Amino acid sequence: MRKPIVAGNWKMNKTRAEAAALVAGIKAEVGSINAVETVVCVPFTDLDLVAQAVKGSILGLGAQNVHWAEKGAFTGEISAAMLKELGVTYVIIGHSERRQYFGETDATVNQRAKAALVAGLKPIVCVGETLMEREAGQTTQVVERQARVGLAGLQGADWDKLVIAYEPVWAIGTGKTATTAQAQEVHAFIRKLLGELAGTETAAKIRIQYGGSMKPENAKELMSQPDIDGGLIGGASLEAGSFAAIVRGAVR
Ligand code: 13P
Repeated sequence: MRKPIVAGNWKMNKTRAEAAALVAGIKAEVGSINAVETVVCVPFTDLDLVAQAVKGSILGLGAQNVHWAEKGAFTGEISAAMLKELGVTYVIIGHSERRQYFGETDATVNQRAKAALVAGLKPIVCVGETLMEREAGQTTQVVERQARVGLAGLQGADWDKLVIAYEPVWAIGTGKTATTAQAQEVHAFIRKLLGELAGTETAAKIRIQYGGSMKPENAKELMSQPDIDGGLIGGASLEAGSFAAIVRGAVR
């Protein structure tokens, strides 16, 4: 069975002092819950501090972006090897905020995912439609394009390291959550597509997280759906109590 994975995406929040307090709180609350893989995806500036804090615990560490080149003249970017050196395991790639504000495309998502895998990082690749796309009936078409292009060229053991996050853009930070039926429908579609790309046996093992206004009140029901294997949490991950409640809701 797939082990649920709940990841906090802190986005551009938490100074180092704040990060230290938050990760200590999370460790205290969920540090002994083995049935769920719990990850915190923190700003680059918090990585070393949080890496030390989670050392020896079951909490995993993630970053929020990675560049595709090994090194070079890419001002402001961070390479996969730099993340690896800090003890990072996961990296979020292609978040809708990167797509919307920073020109991320399916092609650059693909480059970043491949570079992450080469360096031994596990990519959390984000897909999801905008409200306009959903209302135009294009949800599956958009998600299919994002996945096919974003995951092009992955092979063999790459698939075992991959996590997908389905995050409908209209549900992010808006308080509007997809209904369990809406979310499960897209998750099932993604798993079927992964079956085409990676083989059904492999696809059955890939974790697909839901993201978008997930909170303690709705998390358990969403994550009880057959193809929803955890969550990628924004706002509710910024407070240990609410994040921990979601992690507990993922226990099957
Ligand atoms: P919210 O949980 O704040 O809606 O954010 C979701 C998200 O974007 C996680 O990556």
